[in-house]
Amino acid sequence: MERVSGKGKDVYIETFGCQMNEDDSERLFAFLNEIDFQKTDEPEDADLIILNTCSIREKAEQKVYSTLGRLKALKKKNPDLIIGISGCVAQQEGQRLLKRIPHLDLVIGTQNIHRVDALLKEVSTKGARVVANELSATISSGEYRPRLRDVKKVKSFVSIMRGCNNFCSYCIVPYVRGSEVSRPSPEILEEVKTLASGGTKEVTLLGQNVNSYGTSGGGDVSFPELLTSVCRVEGIERVRFITSHPKDISMELLELFSAERKLCRNIHLPVQSGSDKVLERMKRGYTADEYLEKVFLLKRLYPGTSISTDIIVGFPGEEERDFEATMEVVKVVEFDSIFSFKYSPRPGTLAAKFTDQVPPDVRSRRLEVLQAEQKQITIKKNKALEGKTVEVLVEGRSKASEDELTGRTPCNRVVNFPGELALAGSIIEVLITQAYSNSLRAVPIERSLLCC
Ligand code: SAH
Ligand code: SF4
Ligand code: F3S
Repeated sequence: MERVSGKGKDVYIETFGCQMNEDDSERLFAFLNEIDFQKTDEPEDADLIILNTCSIREKAEQKVYSTLGRLKALKKKNPDLIIGISGCVAQQEGQRLLKRIPHLDLVIGTQNIHRVDALLKEVSTKGARVVANELSATISSGEYRPRLRDVKKVKSFVSIMRGCNNFCSYCIVPYVRGSEVSRPSPEILEEVKTLASGGTKEVTLLGQNVNSYGTSGGGDVSFPELLTSVCRVEGIERVRFITSHPKDISMELLELFSAERKLCRNIHLPVQSGSDKVLERMKRGYTADEYLEKVFLLKRLYPGTSISTDIIVGFPGEEERDFEATMEVVKVVEFDSIFSFKYSPRPGTLAAKFTDQVPPDVRSRRLEVLQAEQKQITIKKNKALEGKTVEVLVEGRSKASEDELTGRTPCNRVVNFPGELALAGSIIEVLITQAYSNSLRAVPIERSLLCC
C-alpha cells in the first residue's frame, strides 16, 4: 500500500492513563514521524489529533468524551482535520465510538498502533471512517520497532510485554490489552542500546506484571535474566521496573538488588486491600500476611528500599473492618507513596456484577481517611531525608521554577536544586535541605568542598 505523506503536517497527541500509554504515544509518534509528521503542542495547529485513552476507571473514560466534545469546534473550522482515538477506550468501545461521536474519523485499538500509516490512508484517500481493534495472541513483526534515534531523553520507558492474564475481578486491562505476550529479549536490548546511544541514562521496564516476563508466550529468558542484561548496557546508569505482582515476586529478583549496582532499590508492589476477604474476591492470589511477609523480607534484606503501592477503597462488599485492615497495612508498612482509588465498576468485569456495591459517599470518605494517613507518613519519610546526601539523576529544568533543576533520587523522589542546565543527564550528589509532601529541595555538593 502506498504511504500517506505527513510532509508539512503536524500531529497533536494527548495521552491519558498509565506509563504503558505514554510509551505507546511515543511509539505512535515514531510511526507517524516515519511518514514525516511533526509534533505540535497546540491542537489548533494540528492536521491530525489523536487522543490516546484510558478506561481504568469511569472518570478516566469520561475525560476522554469531554475532550472529544471540545474538538468538535476545531473540526468545524477545519474539515480536513483528522481526529483519531487510540488506547484502551478505543479498544473497548470500537465501532460504538463512531456512532457516538460524528466528528471522529479513526479508532485505533491497543494492538494496532503500528498500522497507523495504512489506517490514515483509508481515512484520507477514501474518506472512510475507520476502526481497527482486533486483538491477537502474538506480537507481529515490526509492532515494536526500535524507536527513532533522535529521541534524546534522559529517562525512558521500554515496554517489555503487553497484556495481562490475571483477570483481577475489578480490572478492565486484560480485556483492553489482550492476553499476556512478552517481547523477545534481543529486540528489547536493541531498543535499550539505541536509547543509550541517544543519551538516555535511565530506563524503566514496563509490563502489567513484569515478574511473569517470558512465562506465557514470547520472551526467551526470565525477568531477572532480562534485567541483568539491561543493567549491563553501556551508558545506562539506572534501571527500574513496573509493575510487580506480589504473588509472583521471586527471591531471584530480590537478589538482583544487591548484585546489580544500576538497579534502583525502588519497587511498586500493589497491595490493593489489607482484607483477606476482599483480596479473595478481587482474585489477587495472596493474603495480607503473605504480602506483608514479602515486604518485610525486602525491608530486612535491603533497608532503605522505597516501596510504593496501589490501593482500591470501596470494593464491593468492603465493610468497615475490611477498610480498617487496609489502614493497618498502610500503617505497618509505611509506604513511601501510594496511588489510591475509589472502586469504579468496569463494564464486563466480574466485580461489576457483584450486588453488594459500596455507596459512593462511603467510598469517598474512606479515600479521604486513607490519603490523610498516607500524607503524614510521606511527610515523615521525606523529613527523615533532611540533612542527608543523595544521588540525583538530573533531568532538566524544574517545572516549578525556571532557575532550578529537577531530578530524582534512586528511590524515585523528586528533588529540586539550583544548577546549570548543562548538568542534565548527569548523576550528581546533593544535600537535602527541605522536605515537602511531594518533593525535596536540595543544594548540589561541590566535590572539592567534601575532602577531609
Ligand atoms: N498491572 C498493575 C495495575 C494496572 S492498573 C497491577 O496489577 O498492579 C493500575 C491500578 O488501578 C491498579 O493497581 C488498581 O489499584 C487500580 N484499578 C484498576 N481497576 C480499577 C477499578 N475498576 N476501580 C478503581 N481502581 C482500579
Ligand atoms: Fe489488572 Fe490485575 Fe492485570 Fe494488574 S494484574 S493489569 S490489576 S488484571
Ligand atoms: Fe488505563 Fe489502559 Fe493503562 S486502561 S491504566 S491506559 S492499560
